[in-house]
Amino acid sequence: MSDFILEAIDLYKSYKTPVGSLPILQRINLQVSPGEFVSITGESGSGKTTLLYALTLLENPDSGKLLWDSVSTSELSKNAQTKFRAKFLSIIFQSYHLFPELNIFENVLMAKRILGPLEKSDKEDALHLLDQVGLSHRLTHLPSQLSGGECQRVAIARALLNKPKVIFADEPTGNLDEKTAQQVFELITQICSTHKITLVLVTHNLKFASLAQRSYILRDNQLH
Ligand SMILES: Nc1ncnc2c1ncn2[C@@H]1O[C@H](COP(=O)(O)OP(=O)(O)OP(=O)(O)O)[C@@H](O)[C@H]1O
Ligand SMILES: [Mg+2]
Repeated sequence: MSDFILEAIDLYKSYKTPVGSLPILQRINLQVSPGEFVSITGESGSGKTTLLYALTLLENPDSGKLLWDSVSTSELSKNAQTKFRAKFLSIIFQSYHLFPELNIFENVLMAKRILGPLEKSDKEDALHLLDQVGLSHRLTHLPSQLSGGECQRVAIARALLNKPKVIFADEPTGNLDEKTAQQVFELITQICSTHKITLVLVTHNLKFASLAQRSYILRDNQLH
């Protein structure tokens, strides 16, 4: 039993291409403590998104060991992994990934709906979270009726609904203007700090990255 909420040991990931195997991640070792804020920067194409996908098992690493809350993910069945993931982690994407045909209240609730039938408390939680991100007056609006910053705030509320232990954010402010980016960054970090949620933030914004407790650069397929 380790004290880490997230641990990667010698993770490797390559992509198969018509001209052969393209190594992206090699010997990735990462240990994150509960409640820590870790940032990852690196040039475009260095493999940051690939790394988040490997750490969240949206894509399987080729080899290595990944522990979520001290549980070795390779020892879970695919089904158990999916259930574990839904409670353990949430991901915030650069392009929000909201359902365009659902209003923002329904979008937040989707985080829970994929786990099973909704309970009354889920709706109350969703309302509370949308209030926390300052959108309780827009519940019936569709994502297309919202600004980019507002869409990202919906995605933040959705990411919080299942009370995850870790939030992974992949350039969550990449599509936003400077002022809105600052607001969204502060919202994410404040919420994670208040709820003691571990945050793994991929960003091109060096100022945001420097505010993390630990900052990594992904270069030459490795974390430095
Ligand atoms: N499905 C795939 N098949 C083959 N190569 C891929 C695939 N997905 C990503 N790559 C390659 O892996 C490398 C890393 O991509 P990745 O998206 O992880 O970079 P990134 O650091 O997130 O870049 P950015 O800052 O632009 O988002 C790139 O060279 C990319 O072309
Ligand atoms: Mg990326």
